[in-house]
Amino acid sequence: MYIQEDGTVLSNIKISETYYDMTVYSPKIAGCAKPGQFVNIKCGDDLLLRRPISICDCDGENFRLVYENRGAGTSMLTRLITGDNLDILGPLGNGVFPTGVSRVLLVGGGCGAAPLLFAAKKNNECSAVLGFRTCKNAVLTDDFYSVCENLLIATDDGTMGASGTVERPVNLLLEKHKFSYIFACGPRPMLKAVSIIAKRHSIPCYISTEERMACGVGACLCCAIKTKSDKETYSHVCKDGPVFEAGQIVLED
Ligand code: FES
Repeated sequence: MYIQEDGTVLSNIKISETYYDMTVYSPKIAGCAKPGQFVNIKCGDDLLLRRPISICDCDGENFRLVYENRGAGTSMLTRLITGDNLDILGPLGNGVFPTGVSRVLLVGGGCGAAPLLFAAKKNNECSAVLGFRTCKNAVLTDDFYSVCENLLIATDDGTMGASGTVERPVNLLLEKHKFSYIFACGPRPMLKAVSIIAKRHSIPCYISTEERMACGVGACLCCAIKTKSDKETYSHVCKDGPVFEAGQIVLED
């Protein structure tokens, strides 16, 4: 069940070279959102398709979005100012991150860090590894520092934290600490690598995929992803996910 609500922008701040941090007053959606869910936002009258953005945090009647400016829709969002209205559908998605559990290792790549912050706040004894292209796009690090017991950063160009992908820091934390769950969100190669590591350590792993979306509610087919139970089939990321158990989905390169 989702809600269509006219939200109000409370703030919309540029926080890195390409990322923005927006807080929206949207009491109905914020009041029932769960970690892993997303909103689908109408971006002006000229763009037909709404833009799906993961919910980064919820605080009573407001939710927070940390999004990257990477196209016409998100570019329009960057121009919104305090007091502007937003036509929002949400909270969307039925596959969500578990809550109320302990010893969770969160692994986020780029925008994928955003929904994991919400998950960190709803669980206990979390640690995180965040990967970014460069220090100029490293976001939410202070937020994760404040809610996680350990935080390691990796950047592709080595300008912050470990140089390279998140794999080495993830393995480092797994050598030193015991985790009951791994949650991951980010680009597909990262999800695949994290799933393999989780399987090797026999740790239950939940991953949130970043497929292209249109309707956001299971009415079109543009977010289909290969999943498996007894045999391979297709699921909708927007309706069946966006969070899946890692063993449930077929992560092709
Ligand atoms: Fe339309 Fe998922 S975005 S079915």
